[in-house]
Amino acid sequence: MLKRLLGYIKPFLGGMALAILVKGAGAVTDLLIPHFMGEVIDEGIAKQDIPVIWSLCLVMLALAIATALLNIIANYISAKKTQQIGERLRNVLYTHIQKLTLKDVEGLTTSSLITRVTNDVEHVQRTFLMMTRFMIRAPVMAIGGIVFSLSIDVGLTCIIFVSMILLAAASMAVYKVTRPLYRKVQQNIDRLTSIIREDLGGVRVIKSFSKSNYEIDRVKRQSQEVKRFELKAGKINAFMGPSIMLITNVTIAVILYVSGFRIQGGSIEIGQVVTILNYINMILMAMTMIPRMFMMFSRANTSAARIMEVLDMTDTTQYGELTREQVSSDGTHPVLELRDVSFQYPDARVAALHHISFTAAKGKTLAVIGGTGSGKTTLLNLILRLYEPTDGEILLYGHPIREFDKESFTQTVTAAMQQYNIFGMSIRENIVLDREFDESRLNQSAESAQLMDLIEELDDAFDHEISQTGSNLSGGQKQRISVARTLYREPDLVVLDDVSSALDYRTDFRLRSALKENYQDKTVLLISQRISSVKSADQILVLEKGRMAGLGTHEELLRSCKTYRDICQTQNVPVPELSASWGEGGDAQ
Ligand SMILES: Nc1ncnc2c1ncn2[C@@H]1O[C@H](COP(=O)(O)OP(=O)(O)OP(=O)(O)O)[C@@H](O)[C@H]1O
Ligand SMILES: [Mg+2]
Repeated sequence: MLKRLLGYIKPFLGGMALAILVKGAGAVTDLLIPHFMGEVIDEGIAKQDIPVIWSLCLVMLALAIATALLNIIANYISAKKTQQIGERLRNVLYTHIQKLTLKDVEGLTTSSLITRVTNDVEHVQRTFLMMTRFMIRAPVMAIGGIVFSLSIDVGLTCIIFVSMILLAAASMAVYKVTRPLYRKVQQNIDRLTSIIREDLGGVRVIKSFSKSNYEIDRVKRQSQEVKRFELKAGKINAFMGPSIMLITNVTIAVILYVSGFRIQGGSIEIGQVVTILNYINMILMAMTMIPRMFMMFSRANTSAARIMEVLDMTDTTQYGELTREQVSSDGTHPVLELRDVSFQYPDARVAALHHISFTAAKGKTLAVIGGTGSGKTTLLNLILRLYEPTDGEILLYGHPIREFDKESFTQTVTAAMQQYNIFGMSIRENIVLDREFDESRLNQSAESAQLMDLIEELDDAFDHEISQTGSNLSGGQKQRISVARTLYREPDLVVLDDVSSALDYRTDFRLRSALKENYQDKTVLLISQRISSVKSADQILVLEKGRMAGLGTHEELLRSCKTYRDICQTQNVPVPELSASWGEGGDAQ
């Protein structure tokens, strides 16, 4: 998996390779130091040869400086490159997530996506950092140390070999036992993140239903799970550090013991023993790095797999070539037309929409009314191409929507969603977003969205910063910002999903009047549960359990649609008496 990920970070691989090589060169100079140390002792100190001591010490100093410099350079390059890799992966991943269909995002869940963009990328990044530090350095140290030791004394090197095997066995055993534990830790952290995210997202609900204690318990329990596995792994690791020390120290003791006899026999000198002792440390340290690298690799591989899972998902929404300029908007075709559209959510058992047909002409307002769960937002999701209809066809200016290119499509249709999004930036940026700035357009959209009252109250007007979650604004204010954002785009078809629910009756009325006045040539699709909001629309579509219960003007529906009359009655809207000719079947369309 890590291999496949490399394709996304190609530009940084050269730098990484350079860092690894420089680090390897640093390891070579590092390896030479004990060799000269032994020489200083045997050839200089033992023989009291001052010039030799001087020259060998200078060599050692040069090697020490070279080692330090090479390590600094390698660390600097690797730190820079791994940060760039992290940045690139986060950007690639985030950009890709933006392109996913709503279905994919919902399938993976937002919290899991956040963990992938943050945690998983960080794991991969940290592994690359480890890799540059140890991938070449550890083997160079281990192999180099052995070669040098062998050149001094084969017997003593055999003792080191035994320790190496012991250490390798111990490290592998620890790696085998702790690997599944760390995997469990990761899974539990994921779960914890998702619980905390859910809770903090719904903090108001939790408070108002005094569910706090229950939620605190839930987080505590999950946190305990993380602790349990982390502790288990920690205990095993706690055994590892001292064991390495023990093996190293015992090896040193054994080597000193054996060397005692050798020195007496004259087959080895003190300086050479010192050299070997230094190599023991290097070799055994390098040996402990190898299982740690395995561990990092396996964690990074899991993370890479989770990243690739997202990157492998592609938006299957097909866009065509048709541009906005190519279609005639002279009124020969309705701006929007639905022909017998049905839709079922992928994981649902029943269809959410059945045989919906209607047209919306240029400059007209089509309202959609219906109870909760009647399919209003679903209808909008289809029009916005967040989902594809299971049956039927949606047309813009007489052309199937899938024939439009993406840019033209988003220019033609824009919606203020029921679940609006407000970003942690100024009001102006929230409205303009990625479009080019135009003062008069901003003012007109804010005025129409009834946002000016708020703007005038604020000292810094449009520059007012909204807190990250938009919590320093009321629901209605945020809703109006999202409406202003939609209007600023000046699309041909403005879709407003239940924006009136967060507005008082007066503001709602003023918003609709402003839409009529300032956006005469735009088609408005107004979704609402309020009769007062839809009443004056040119046409009203009544939805009931995903089916069309009626289509017509307020007056027509009052006369012909039972569902509509029922809604009116529940909202205290006067309903005229019907003549005897009107029957129960009159609400069918
Ligand atoms: N992502 C989804 N997956 C499966 N079923 C869904 C999904 N979203 C909505 N539904 C179902 O589709 C039906 C219509 O939902 P929809 O959100 O369109 O209702 P609505 O008319 O907008 O309601 P409200 O007035 O509450 O916003 C409901 O039965 C709902 O449970
Ligand atoms: Mg809805």
